[in-house]
Amino acid sequence: QEAHAAEMERTFIAIKPDGVQRGLISEIMSRFERKGYKLVAIKLIVPSKEFAEKHYHDLKERPFFSGLCDFLSSGPVLAMVWEGEGVIKYGRKLIGATDPQKSEPGTIRGDLAIVVGRNIIHGSDGPETAKDEIALWFEPKELVSYTSNAEKWIY
Ligand code: PPS
Repeated sequence: QEAHAAEMERTFIAIKPDGVQRGLISEIMSRFERKGYKLVAIKLIVPSKEFAEKHYHDLKERPFFSGLCDFLSSGPVLAMVWEGEGVIKYGRKLIGATDPQKSEPGTIRGDLAIVVGRNIIHGSDGPETAKDEIALWFEPKELVSYTSNAEKWIY
């Protein structure tokens, strides 16, 4: 069971400044929590623009890159790591399509956002990005390993 826990998939999730300012932290976190995913790291930080540029480095060539980085660094961001089977892909499903006009009702963006530039949450889009983003936002010692009593009722 220890080995199982150690191999559990992890993803990086961030509530962006608009989500924090709008008071949506608990609403968003509860969706991951109720699904059965486990919170293994969390902190509230205001990233610098340079840090935001590192986070979004893949998007350097996109026209909205600078605006997106300004936005991410405009206020507190709630950075988290969530763990569980399939959490990378299913986390994206909980979040919904990038453009909130296209995300389904029932998803976080579908229910809580209207435009792409203010889409309240970020989630890693694959295993490689998840690894890189977790390493960028957190030090290894900030990732907490623990057994939750609920696990035997979830898996
Ligand atoms: S995806 O899901 O990666 O395919 O989406 P993509 O379109 O590549 O978008 C990557 C991130 O860029 C943000 N984005 C935008 N921000 C501002 N304006 C516009 N027009 C825009 N288009 C895309 C999008 O929200 C993604 O950021 P995160 O933080 O990952 O959601």
